[in-house]
Amino acid sequence: MQKLSPDNAVAQVPTHVAIIMDGNGRWAKARGLPRVAGHQRGAESVRKTVKACRELGIGYLTLYAFSSENWKRPAEEVGDLMQLLRVYLRKELNELHANNVRVQFIGDRARLAKDITELIEHAEGKTRANTGLCLIIAVNYGGQAEIVNACRRIAIMVKEGDLGLDEISEETVAANMETAGLPDPDLLIRTSGEQRLSNFLLWQSAYSELVFMDILWPDFSKKSLLEAIEEYQRRDRRYGATSG
Ligand code: IPE
Ligand code: IPE
Ligand code: MG
Repeated sequence: MQKLSPDNAVAQVPTHVAIIMDGNGRWAKARGLPRVAGHQRGAESVRKTVKACRELGIGYLTLYAFSSENWKRPAEEVGDLMQLLRVYLRKELNELHANNVRVQFIGDRARLAKDITELIEHAEGKTRANTGLCLIIAVNYGGQAEIVNACRRIAIMVKEGDLGLDEISEETVAANMETAGLPDPDLLIRTSGEQRLSNFLLWQSAYSELVFMDILWPDFSKKSLLEAIEEYQRRDRRYGATSG
């Protein structure tokens, strides 16, 4: 944890920031542009946010890029979003690597195009040993599916006699989530004014501070991130206890 500003000695930046990047479509609509234009500007916000997180010394940034429910969108829009992911990975990987960023993905890869899973595996492999910001991108991710998969894995261990029923703990579940080994998000931001999780990090956000912002994702900037962090710093994280 690092200090955000020298004049606020107790203010700590969150270790893990997670963002539901929402509002690209509304941003485009307000300008009379096709939705894809909003997604393109949204990709710019991703670049800026990654940079800002590096500058602030944030340890982990998880971005919700495509939910397991986003397949319900028109095929053309799904195609545009997948193409933007390709372009992002091709264009940004060298710079991310040069900046010591470790890239990881969560979500079900089985339904993704083969070339995208290859780009994902390449990005993860290339940056695996990096020690700077850990950038986690959620693609075809759904929190409920993640919990179901963890249940299945644990059930198999029990069935095969590798784990006793009374040995199943919160740690066992956490260790079988796709986020195993990562700290839970301290600060969870959603842009665009919607106030819901939309199946994002359901298990991991048990004690995250939720910050809902009216700004649309393509307009999100370092200033917006700092506003969210300042809001986070005003919160009293009690974890069920009384204030200390
Ligand atoms: C977020 O923007 C991007 C993704 C969900 C992939 P939206 O496309 O959901 O934008 P709105 O909510 O329609 O404005
Ligand atoms: C959540 O946004 C998913 C991502 C940001 C990737 P949506 O725009 O898909 O969520 P809903 O449909 O408003 O709940
Ligand atoms: Mg949306």
